[in-house]
Amino acid sequence: MNHKPMLLIVSLFATILLFMPSLPVNADDDHKQKKWYNKILDDDDDSDHHKRKRERKRDGTHSRNSKRALKNTIYQNTCGECHFAYQPDLMPTASWATLMKSLNDHFGESIELDDDSIKTIADYLNTNSADNSRTKRGTKIIKSLKNKMPMRITEIPYLLHEHHEISPNVFDRESIGSFSNCVACHTTAENGIYDDDFVIIPK
Ligand code: HEC
Ligand code: HEC
Repeated sequence: MNHKPMLLIVSLFATILLFMPSLPVNADDDHKQKKWYNKILDDDDDSDHHKRKRERKRDGTHSRNSKRALKNTIYQNTCGECHFAYQPDLMPTASWATLMKSLNDHFGESIELDDDSIKTIADYLNTNSADNSRTKRGTKIIKSLKNKMPMRITEIPYLLHEHHEISPNVFDRESIGSFSNCVACHTTAENGIYDDDFVIIPK
């Protein structure tokens, strides 16, 4: 006699029995999780509000000027892997678009990404780019470029000008590495804040 079908039925039954009691528990967990998640979201809104207020105080500008792009998780994880995840408003749309089309030759690196992630990142960069974001910084960057399209943030005239007093051998320090390493000196760069109040140049 062939025992295979019988064995299959028995194990199927066992599986159902195993999962049945956990079903309502899971559903309950889900429910709790949602509530917990909503609470975080609410809190987040709140702290965002406070943050915006603080930011406004700090640089004395209006909320539209200090409006910052919400962080995008896929962007942070993918483009923050090898270096600091540069804020989208540090380069114009055209630069980001070109960069996203040449991921196979990214400054000597080849970046492999699925189409969905590429689209998410490209959309995020496009929406919040220097020319589309209306941030103060973005406007200064666009003005200084005079229609040129840089492939590097560190080639942008406005940013070069802001750093022209720093001698090249400071950037070469082991603790810094290069101009591209914004987070080495701008302690608040992760939050998109580059005010000189928060700059510490490491020895
Ligand atoms: C595999 C590592 C790696 C990943 C992942 C990566 N990069 Fe880079 N990126 C580099 C290297 C290497 C450089 C050149 C650094 C240098 O020359 O100082 C660079 C430079 C850059 C620069 C120029 C910085 C400057 O000097 O102004 C930008 C902008 C940039 N990357 C954006 C991105 C974006 C957007 C993504 C995500 C799609 C990304 N990178 C993902 C390795 C990576
Ligand atoms: C070696 C340290 C160092 C590095 C690396 C560095 N910066 Fe700076 N940055 C400074 C200093 C110091 C100032 C203030 C210059 C001044 O006011 O004279 C400054 C000023 C600025 C300003 C102007 C801020 C303002 O409120 O006027 C911006 C924007 C900025 N940096 C962006 C960047 C970005 C983006 C990067 C990375 C691509 C970067 N910096 C890398 C040290 C650094």
